[in-house]
Amino acid sequence: MKINKIGRLEGEITVPSDKSITHRAIMLSCLANGVSHIDNYLESADCISTINAFKSMGVDIVQNGKRLIINGVGLNGLKKPSSDIDAGNSGTTTRLLAGILAGQKFNVTIIGDGSLSLRPMKRIIEPLRQMGVNIFAKNDNYLPLTIHPGENLKSIDYISKVASAQVKSCVLFAGLYADGVTKFTEPEKSRDHTERMLKAYGADIVEKGLSVSVHKCNKLTAQNIKVPSDISSAAFFMAAGLIVKNSRITIKEVNINETRSGIIKVLKNMGANIVIKDVSFVSGEEVADIEILSSDLHATEIGGKIIPTLIDEIPIIALCATQAEGITVISGAKELRVKESDRLKAVASQLSKMGADITETEDGLIIKGKTRLKGTDVDSFKDHRIVMTLSIAGLVAEGQTTIIDSDCVQISFANFYEVLKSICK
Ligand code: S3P
Repeated sequence: MKINKIGRLEGEITVPSDKSITHRAIMLSCLANGVSHIDNYLESADCISTINAFKSMGVDIVQNGKRLIINGVGLNGLKKPSSDIDAGNSGTTTRLLAGILAGQKFNVTIIGDGSLSLRPMKRIIEPLRQMGVNIFAKNDNYLPLTIHPGENLKSIDYISKVASAQVKSCVLFAGLYADGVTKFTEPEKSRDHTERMLKAYGADIVEKGLSVSVHKCNKLTAQNIKVPSDISSAAFFMAAGLIVKNSRITIKEVNINETRSGIIKVLKNMGANIVIKDVSFVSGEEVADIEILSSDLHATEIGGKIIPTLIDEIPIIALCATQAEGITVISGAKELRVKESDRLKAVASQLSKMGADITETEDGLIIKGKTRLKGTDVDSFKDHRIVMTLSIAGLVAEGQTTIIDSDCVQISFANFYEVLKSICK
């Protein structure tokens, strides 16, 4: 993809639906009794991996425009697939599905693409083993992952070292099948879509501080869910609107759940002119329009408990920091090294190539702003969030930016370049 510097951005846009909510809505609808409708679901490569996984286990899933109609088979109605389940690039599919598969009566193997096969699975293997599941993985940490469910899952009281919604969801899903009460405690609060949605489908969930407990469940009940737009996709346009001069963008109906919207707090701390409008509740999630005006940004410090609430937005926040006066320090973000790529390395190396003053630390980034960026050849590391970060960088860089392997926008935001073109003036 080639990107040229542009004059300004103006208009109203809708970004794709939330990826995390779509995965969970598909999974719980498949396990529920009755017919669920999921409106406005995200039809991206990652969510298609989840749909195909459940189709291969005998669930009837029909697509009707922007609606998915799922005829749930009940918690114990999945069938052994005829081959391995391919989770593609999707960590969420793999880790959440592993929790569900732990409760089934058949053996199954999950495989994935090159990137997913390098991502750590020990974090879910450990709690699932404690629950009585036999799991085999390459070097005890990587895909392929073969799950041999235990006879009777045992409930556990698990204290996780990482704040990860994927690990939390895996344990809570397995907990639906375990005798007694399964408790999960995390070091910081990660996104809570699973807790919200499990409650809506009828599971017995109790949240207390950093802990969540789930009771063994006999039945989930089908629901109709409307999926709001994804703040992690909106983030690229929030940044673009701020750093491209004379811009004004409105992003419609974005999920602003507190456990996801750390980016809004951080950008406001940096002096961003962002207005949250028309807040409402849709399917148990807070939704609002976000208005962004170009702003003179200044540096900030980001670390501690806010990190899980903006974990996927750090690459694009780092780009904003290159356009902000002063030194921005991001710490406590080691998890970025085990995402679809090593995002600390990807961001530091590629934005440096474009002229940014950005240094990688063990668990974060130090960025000195404000720098003039120059267009050049950059690499996406086949990571959707890195491609989109570099594309927005290209809008403010002198000359032309060429991004290698830009196709991976498909993972979460297939029409990213069309939406971008629609507001370029
Ligand atoms: C996700 C949780 C986060 C996030 C990922 C989606 C989810 O991962 O980075 O894009 O849907 O639960 P971790 O749980 O590994 O932090």
